[in-house]
Amino acid sequence: MSRKIRFLVTYILLGGLLLAACAGPAGPEGPQGPQGPAGSQGSPGLPGADLTAEQTKALETAGNLAAIQFPALDEVRRGCPACHVLVDPETGKYTLPYEARERAEARGKEHPEVAPDGTSLAVNEEVRVTTCLQCHAPGTGDRAGKGVVAPLALRDIVHPAHMNSQYFKLHYGGNCFTCHNVNGQGDWELLTEKVDVNNKGVPNPDSLPIPGAVPIGSSEGAPSGTASRGGRLYDNWMTEAGVEVPASDQPLWATQTTNTRTGTDTWRCKECHGWDYLGAAGAYGSGSHFTGFVGVTGVASKTSDEIVEILSGGTDADHDFSTMGEAALADLATFLQTGLIDFTPLIDAETKSAVGGDAANGEELFATCASCHGADGRVLNFGNEEEPEYIATIALDNPWEFIHKVRSGQPGTAMPAAMDGDWSLEDLVDLLAYAQTLPVETP
Ligand code: HEC
Ligand code: HEC
Ligand code: HEC
Ligand code: HEC
Ligand code: HEC
Repeated sequence: MSRKIRFLVTYILLGGLLLAACAGPAGPEGPQGPQGPAGSQGSPGLPGADLTAEQTKALETAGNLAAIQFPALDEVRRGCPACHVLVDPETGKYTLPYEARERAEARGKEHPEVAPDGTSLAVNEEVRVTTCLQCHAPGTGDRAGKGVVAPLALRDIVHPAHMNSQYFKLHYGGNCFTCHNVNGQGDWELLTEKVDVNNKGVPNPDSLPIPGAVPIGSSEGAPSGTASRGGRLYDNWMTEAGVEVPASDQPLWATQTTNTRTGTDTWRCKECHGWDYLGAAGAYGSGSHFTGFVGVTGVASKTSDEIVEILSGGTDADHDFSTMGEAALADLATFLQTGLIDFTPLIDAETKSAVGGDAANGEELFATCASCHGADGRVLNFGNEEEPEYIATIALDNPWEFIHKVRSGQPGTAMPAAMDGDWSLEDLVDLLAYAQTLPVETP
């Protein structure tokens, strides 16, 4: 027994030393978790959560060496909020939205600020894991292997991040049962709430079934549609949703005189708000498309309900596009929340050329397009015989439209959407750089 304990102590010490040695600037600090009550008396020598005085001392030493302030290790923790609670209102540590933001930033990305059901993902909010699953539940169909909305399913983030963490395993004694329960059918359940347990993690018999133990894989509350379809609706919702084109011009159209188009065009989101989503502040700030209307980037942090309201005439009766139907409105809201990108670093607004694109990589990526558009992008003519429009025509004239369409797909066609795949923004720029070298004249 004493041998076993010594082994354990050495192991913990070693872990601490390892941590100290590895504690580079990049290493994220683990959540401390709630301070918790003073702790049980413990039963010396028994395995389990209770530590002997010796073990506690070793842990403290390890903590001091690593300059980590370990919380009292007085309880077995089960369920995300057993560790991920707000301990610092300033930074939002260690809430789940804080972890999300921190990790996205480590990739040079920004994490969305609002969940599809409108729950705020501000770093200092205590958000349940079920909210994360609205976007991070495993996708199906063309989202198979990914998150239903986010690039990754939560299991693919959370499993390695915890099971490879010395903090999680050594300090918290973390294991599969920290987050899971196995139900009567032998299926894994997810513990979404802090579970009331004894010193071995066994749930309190007075509070059964375990509160917050939910079956895995049910993506309830996840948005029915996808951001990419929202992008196609933004392009042309009448074609994408298969609804009739309104007979007259969009009522707001009359509030401007500079853009002289009529009919269908006046109802397209892109005609008033731009392919770069910036409205008059972007590429449509001059030229025949100029209307002076605002961009849509300001609503990315609004809730889907608020956005649907804006699109259904709730804030301006003339801004009513509700004939596209509820599902389409939800898709559009998802696109505006999670699908908008900033084109400024990608496209030189003066020359319209791809900034720093690697055309060689673009050529490889173009193989996906060639199956429908032909090896030089001239099999499909989007214009007419007199004024042909090919891949290169769009890439050169309107690189914002080109990238929007590649990311979202073409409304009403089977053209795939890069947003549903794993192309990076860099890939899109490379593709654009290559597409701009293709021929524009009739073959
Ligand atoms: C026993 C404490 C504990 C519990 C319970 C716990 N976590 Fe963690 N979590 C940690 C620690 C410690 C880290 C830091 C890991 C590291 O970087 O070494 C972490 C990190 C994370 C991260 C950042 C991932 C990354 O890539 O670094 C996410 C996201 C996260 N946890 C989500 C969850 C979710 C969701 C649950 C519930 C299903 C959960 N955690 C339950 C302790 C816990
Ligand atoms: C609105 C949908 C949405 C919700 C809700 C959401 N996420 Fe995300 N999450 C994303 C998207 C999109 C990304 C990818 C960001 C990027 O790479 O541009 C992401 C990325 C992440 C990452 C970074 C993964 C990596 O290493 O690249 C983590 C960690 C994460 N989310 C955790 C969470 C947690 C925890 C929650 C719940 C508090 C949550 N997310 C809620 C959409 C969402
Ligand atoms: C830090 C918390 C955490 C730990 C530790 C953890 N899991 Fe998970 N696990 C999750 C989350 C979150 C999901 C995703 C739930 C969902 O998508 O509904 C998940 C999903 C799963 C699934 C379902 C996979 C699927 O998509 O069908 C299995 C099986 C699973 N975990 C097994 C394990 C095993 C085995 C271990 C220990 C080696 C483990 N988990 C440790 C949080 C955790
Ligand atoms: C005929 C021009 C026109 C069309 C078409 C149009 N909008 Fe708008 N939109 C406006 C104007 C003008 C505003 C400014 C507020 C107002 O008057 O409603 C606006 C405001 C918005 C806002 C709020 C912006 C903010 O920062 O508050 C969003 C989001 C939006 N539109 C999205 C869309 C979407 C999505 C579509 C396509 C279904 C669309 N719009 C179609 C003209 C248009
Ligand atoms: C499955 C077939 C298919 C694939 C693959 C495909 N497209 Fe398309 N694409 C189409 C169809 C069909 C149209 C509509 C043609 C029309 O309107 O005449 C289209 C339209 C376009 C347009 C818009 C033309 C306009 O109306 O202004 C662009 C730009 C475009 N595709 C680029 C690409 C690029 C780049 C790729 C590769 C990443 C690609 N497409 C892959 C089928 C495809």
